[in-house]
Amino acid sequence: MRQRTPVVVNILIITVLLVIFYYLFVQSYSFLASPYFWGTVVISAILAYIHGAIGDLIENNKFKKLTAEEKAAYLAEKKIPFLRRQYEAAFKKQSDSHEKDILIDHGFDGIMELDNQLPKWWLGLFYFGTVFCIVYICAYAFTDFAHPISEYDAEYKEQMAAIEIYNQSQPPITIETAVFSEDNIAAGEEIFKSNCVSCHSDGGKGGIGPNLTDNFWHNQPEKTLFKNIFHVVDNGVTGTAMQAWGKNGVLTGTDIQNVAAYVYSINQLKKPITPKDGGAPPYGDEAHWEKQ
Ligand code: HEC
Repeated sequence: MRQRTPVVVNILIITVLLVIFYYLFVQSYSFLASPYFWGTVVISAILAYIHGAIGDLIENNKFKKLTAEEKAAYLAEKKIPFLRRQYEAAFKKQSDSHEKDILIDHGFDGIMELDNQLPKWWLGLFYFGTVFCIVYICAYAFTDFAHPISEYDAEYKEQMAAIEIYNQSQPPITIETAVFSEDNIAAGEEIFKSNCVSCHSDGGKGGIGPNLTDNFWHNQPEKTLFKNIFHVVDNGVTGTAMQAWGKNGVLTGTDIQNVAAYVYSINQLKKPITPKDGGAPPYGDEAHWEKQ
C-alpha cells in the first residue's frame, strides 16, 4: 500500500499556488491584506482537510485487509519523514521481479497500473526545470534582473531622452514656421485647459476673455486666422489681462503652435457658441481671413 501525501503539505502547496495566481491577477502583494484572499485560503484548507480525512478512512479500511507482515512494513515506512521518503523514492531501484511492489492500487475500478520508474533523462529534465523555475520566480520577485517592468522603464527613459535631444536640436517654432495641423489639436486642448480656460471658459466660449469661437476679432494683426492666433498668444494684448505667453516665456513655440491649432479648430471646425448657447457676445470687428 502506498503512502499518502500529508494534509499539511497539500495545504502548503495550495496556499503557494493561490499566492501566485492572486499575484498574477492583482500584480502586487496588496491582496495579502484582503479578507477575500484569506477566506479563499481557509476554504481551500478546509476542503483539503476533508479530502485528507476521507483518504484516512479508505486507508484504514485497506489497512485491515493487509497481512501482518505488510502491516509492519507499511507502519515502518510511514515513520520516515515525508521529504526523506520523496528523496528516496526518486533514487529507488526498481525491482523487476516483484510486480506487486510497483502496483498502483486503483481500488474500485480494478485496473492494473504499474508505478514504473521514470527514465533518468526525464527526471533530470524535470528537476532542472523545477530548480530553474524557483530561481526565475525569486529573481522576478526580488531583483531587477531581466525584469520586464524595469526593462520597460529603462527603455522609456532612453526614448524620452532621445526625444529631448531631438527637440533641442530642432530650431524653435516661431510665427514664421508655425503651421496648423489637426494632429496638434489634442495637445493644444490640454494647454488650453490648464492655461486659458480660466478667462476664455470651456470650449473658448468666452468670459473675462473674449469668445474665441465666433468670427469677431478685436485683434487682427495678421492676415490669416492661424497666424493671428499665434501672434496674439505670443505677444499678448498690452494693457489687458491677456499676457504675452510666448514673449514672457510661459509657453514655448511648440506649445503656442499646439494651442493655436486648438483655438483654430474651435473657431473653424465647430459651430460658434453664440450668446444664446451661453457664449460671450461678439467683441471687435467681423474678420475676413485670407486662406492659408
Ligand atoms: C487672465 C485672463 C486670460 C487668460 C488666462 C488668457 N486670456 Fe486670452 N484674452 C484675455 C483678454 C481680456 C483678451 C482680450 C484682449 C483685448 O481686449 O483685446 C484676450 C484675447 C485673446 C485672443 C484674441 C481675441 C480677440 O478677439 O482679439 C486670443 C486668440 C486669446 N486671448 C487666446 C488665449 C489663449 C490661447 C490663452 C491661453 C494660453 C489665453 N488667451 C489666456 C484674457 C485672458
